[in-house]
Amino acid sequence: MDLLSIQLSKRLKTLADYVPDGARFVDVGTDHAYIPIYLATTSNVKSLIATDVAKGPIESAKQNVQQYQLADRISIRLGNGLMPVMPGEVDTVLIAGMGGHTAVEILASSKKVVDSVHKLILQPMNASHLVRRYLDTNGFHLQTETVIEEDGRFYEMIVAGRILDIDQEQLQPDIAYEKFRFSQNILQFAYEFGPLLLNNPTSSFVSMMKQTRDKWINLRENIAKSDSSRAVMRQETVKTQIQIMDDWLKNVEERLADDEWNRTR
Ligand SMILES: C[S@@+](CC[C@H](N)C(=O)[O-])C[C@H]1O[C@@H](n2cnc3c(N)ncnc32)[C@H](O)[C@@H]1O
Repeated sequence: MDLLSIQLSKRLKTLADYVPDGARFVDVGTDHAYIPIYLATTSNVKSLIATDVAKGPIESAKQNVQQYQLADRISIRLGNGLMPVMPGEVDTVLIAGMGGHTAVEILASSKKVVDSVHKLILQPMNASHLVRRYLDTNGFHLQTETVIEEDGRFYEMIVAGRILDIDQEQLQPDIAYEKFRFSQNILQFAYEFGPLLLNNPTSSFVSMMKQTRDKWINLRENIAKSDSSRAVMRQETVKTQIQIMDDWLKNVEERLADDEWNRTR
């Protein structure tokens, strides 16, 4: 087999491109190990680890790595999250294709490993607000946020960095949230959709947001069927978030219309 022939999907290729040259890299929940294989054959990463919690994916990763004759370059390890990684062993972590709650659990339960990491590349399948809140409250600063569309589905990608060797007290708040911190509801909105994306919206991002709006409208209607005090509170929260979203969408649509008008003048 040709060593350089692995073809990544648009989602995986976008994620792989965020891994810097010279990285000591781990792909958590690797499944097929496609990204480590791609990096081993196309980039200058220093070291590559692929972990997975399940035996089936580990077997499939091993088979693929052997097929590409990369067993000496990629260390495949069975275990939960970052548990199979030693503190100081990696500086770049990828967690992709799992829920935001799981991604945060993985990071929070391996604090010593995370303390020696300066880049996190995260692609949660849901609950990205939990991921952003974790990053914001653990000294990570957002570097890039992207939404890509593949096979009719939107994928959010979040890249964050942290300066090492600073005391917890010296950690500076992420400037990306500066204009969102004046109210808890607005900060929650920024955790949901991403401050960098809200500041520089792409058409995929706006489409994803409209899709989320539809889901929230449905959710609000479902919650309205219950009159428990918890449901009433939840309904208020969802209503507020939809209102903030509608204001933001109106603003962006006006801005885009102005840009279009200026371009065609
Ligand atoms: C949908 S696949 C995603 C594979 C690959 N990361 C991608 O983005 O295409 C999710 C993988 O994460 C693994 N996984 C789920 N929870 C995990 C955890 N806590 N630690 C390590 N791996 C986990 C699963 O076994 C599965 O192989």
